[in-house]
Amino acid sequence: MLKDKVIILGVTGGIAAYKACEVVSTLKQLGAEVWVVMTESATKLVTPLTFRTLSTNPVITDLFSNELAGLNVPHIALTEKADLVMVVPATANIIGKAASGIADDPLSTMLLSSKAKKLFAPAMNTRMWNNSVVQENIKKLKDLGVQFIGPVEGNLACGWGMGKMAEPEEIVNRVIEILVPKLDFKGKRVLITAGGTREPLDPVRFIGNRSSGKMGFALAQAARTRGAKVTLISGPTHEPLPLDVELVKVETAAEMKAAVLERFKYADLLVMAAAVADYRPAKASPKKLKKVTERLQLLLERTEDILAAVKRLKTKKQKVVGFALETEDVLAGAAKKLKEKGLDLVVANDPSTFDGDLISGSILSKDGKPEHFSGLGKDQAAGIILDRIKGI
Ligand SMILES: Cc1cc2nc3c(=O)[nH]c(=O)nc-3n(C[C@H](O)[C@H](O)[C@H](O)COP(=O)(O)O)c2cc1C
Repeated sequence: MLKDKVIILGVTGGIAAYKACEVVSTLKQLGAEVWVVMTESATKLVTPLTFRTLSTNPVITDLFSNELAGLNVPHIALTEKADLVMVVPATANIIGKAASGIADDPLSTMLLSSKAKKLFAPAMNTRMWNNSVVQENIKKLKDLGVQFIGPVEGNLACGWGMGKMAEPEEIVNRVIEILVPKLDFKGKRVLITAGGTREPLDPVRFIGNRSSGKMGFALAQAARTRGAKVTLISGPTHEPLPLDVELVKVETAAEMKAAVLERFKYADLLVMAAAVADYRPAKASPKKLKKVTERLQLLLERTEDILAAVKRLKTKKQKVVGFALETEDVLAGAAKKLKEKGLDLVVANDPSTFDGDLISGSILSKDGKPEHFSGLGKDQAAGIILDRIKGI
């Protein structure tokens, strides 16, 4: 499957370095040419000999070594022919160096000199992962097109928490997705909504919700990678725009409805992943509301239901997928939405999904049993949702 693909696999000094052995071994079995580059810290955790044996290629640990005599200036020669540079595991340190343009060892130098696709599988202690410097570095790299897989919650060397590396099998599956993309949505026009809406109270305040837009953006990226022409209609979000996706920015539920209805007739598939306000202030003040009374009562009115309007326009050829977020009776609420809104598929989830990178939930279709999934990265969940859409 990966024949003729050249992969540079960087191993850094995380305790999960031993799991990179399985990744290298599987990539080799799939036919890839794998070159392992280790940081000095990584060599203290796993020996270069292990990777040399598994990859059947010399392991690069020193930028100035003469050992790789066959390669003239290895960091240039290798990166020029690489299809993918991946880092498994990726320490907080290499993420920081890559985000800052530091090139002080073979791996960071290759990351900087390579134009190939890049994939990082971070692994670290929960406090390191939650550190805003690490998160800012990740955002910077994502904005530059670097892909990330994991981490997930799990048992770490320091106890239970967020920061466990994605499993080797998942990492290899992602490599396959990147290097041998499925094009089963080729020619399809896909409309996706994402993020939350904001309903103004006055020029500076609004009623909103905690949706980050991550799920909708992950779906847009996945559909684009699989060949679709994607339009993403999004409320305010901090997510980086997927490459080669048209973005329509909206703020209110009314704007989102107008944007969806204007484009729905051209779409083969609509996925409503946005968290659209059900109510809005009946009247938005044109001036900032002053702090004059002890209590302030707000009168809210219903917003228009986008999926109800879509149901009236939907043709037999079009597919419509919704998301149902409930705090209780999640499955029953989702089943009701599926039926009432005439959806082809609904993804049920609970508020733990908000703002995070992981999602647990269930996929319900008209004729099948609910399919449950738990603690998946949103990009992985996006792939599964698209697979199920293909199946209906
Ligand atoms: C036993 C051990 C395990 C470590 N595991 C991790 C880890 O999982 N993630 C991480 O970011 N740093 C971890 N570190 C710290 C890194 O090794 C350290 O920050 C180092 O400078 C990283 O260098 P490198 O990125 O060049 O490999 C660990 C250190 C030790 C001693």
